[in-house]
Amino acid sequence: MKSLADRTNDLFQSNIRAVTLMLKGSNGINLGQGICDMPTPEPIKNGAKRAIDEDRSIYSYYGGIDRLRSALVDKSISYNRIPVSDPDEILVTVGSTGAFVVTMFTLLNPGDEVIVFEPFYGYHVNLLKVMGAHLRYVTMTGPDWSVDFEAVESMVTDQTKAIIVNTPGNPNGKVWSRSELEQLLEIMQRHDLFGITDEIYEYLLYDGREHVSLASLPGAFERTITLSGFSKTYNMTGWRLGYAVGPESIIDKMGLLSDLIYICAPTPLQYGVAEAFEMDTRYFVDMAKAYDEKRALMCSTLEEIGFIVPWPEGSYYVLADFSPLAGRDEGFEDDVTACKTLVDRAGVGTVPGHSFYERAEDGRFFLRFCFAKELPVLEEACRRLKAALGGHQE
Ligand SMILES: Cc1ncc(COP(=O)(O)O)c(C=O)c1O
Repeated sequence: MKSLADRTNDLFQSNIRAVTLMLKGSNGINLGQGICDMPTPEPIKNGAKRAIDEDRSIYSYYGGIDRLRSALVDKSISYNRIPVSDPDEILVTVGSTGAFVVTMFTLLNPGDEVIVFEPFYGYHVNLLKVMGAHLRYVTMTGPDWSVDFEAVESMVTDQTKAIIVNTPGNPNGKVWSRSELEQLLEIMQRHDLFGITDEIYEYLLYDGREHVSLASLPGAFERTITLSGFSKTYNMTGWRLGYAVGPESIIDKMGLLSDLIYICAPTPLQYGVAEAFEMDTRYFVDMAKAYDEKRALMCSTLEEIGFIVPWPEGSYYVLADFSPLAGRDEGFEDDVTACKTLVDRAGVGTVPGHSFYERAEDGRFFLRFCFAKELPVLEEACRRLKAALGGHQE
């Protein structure tokens, strides 16, 4: 039989799934996968049920239903301060992942270079590789995950086409400041680069931090595609609804590609999620408060055990450094061993740090914990971790 396409050669089941399989059947708690097990808000569920009952079941316009795109124009102006004015600057997609795919197809030729910050979100990197892009990595360093902009500029070549930003970030919870985004924009402008910004965790912020959208900075909109979605904000990862915001000339081509690949996002679910914009804005306040409590529980538990914990500024992950445990306990020689140790001793799943770095060595002493769990489940996970690994001995 002839071989499969070369682009499939480097595709393997992710570590995240592997941990899920390890935990299956053992009453384990999975803090690995970034799925929130909280319920989807009732108004959204009821909106979708109504749309199904009313047989709003045919393909929608490929760019999304009017009501949702108009709501997204208003939200992009009021929350993100992005200078949009027309629904044609919005594309509703099959998850923000679908938006990322069509952005790549629209902007990149094989061989184009793209700058990515690490620790990175694996889907960005793997999709870019499948797309034939060449990746240039800039490492953010803890504890505040700062960015060396001279290093960024030194990565730019004649082939560089785009820079990827993820704020608030997965896996490290970094929230890019206005000043950092301004410095990035200067580089984008100096070298005529596109910015692609994944803002799916835009409402998950801690310690009074502000979410700044790159596209809101003066002069940024024309060269920036903003990606977001509903999966994380409304606990609906399986609904597969996201969107892109950008200049009409680019969104137009992205829409045609989205049409070719997906035809449209699921129509009745688009009607459902449109209800989110009628909900009381207290929803966001309550959500942030609940996550703040979970962040504190997760991070202080890890600190008690002896991890070095850069508390996330946003999102619902913490990338914790277990190097102090490596000298103290057996089973912490590297990230894969540590991940297995936590499964075996505590029944808790995490993600090994090398999943977020180009060079496995750079992630060797990190584990990612996701705290988007119902509080009792997270409490139980923290109890198990403390019981299995004990407190920190000075
Ligand atoms: C940074 C980031 N972007 C995108 C996604 C996926 O979003 P969606 O469900 O909208 O495709 C995730 C999910 O973990 C993520 O962490």
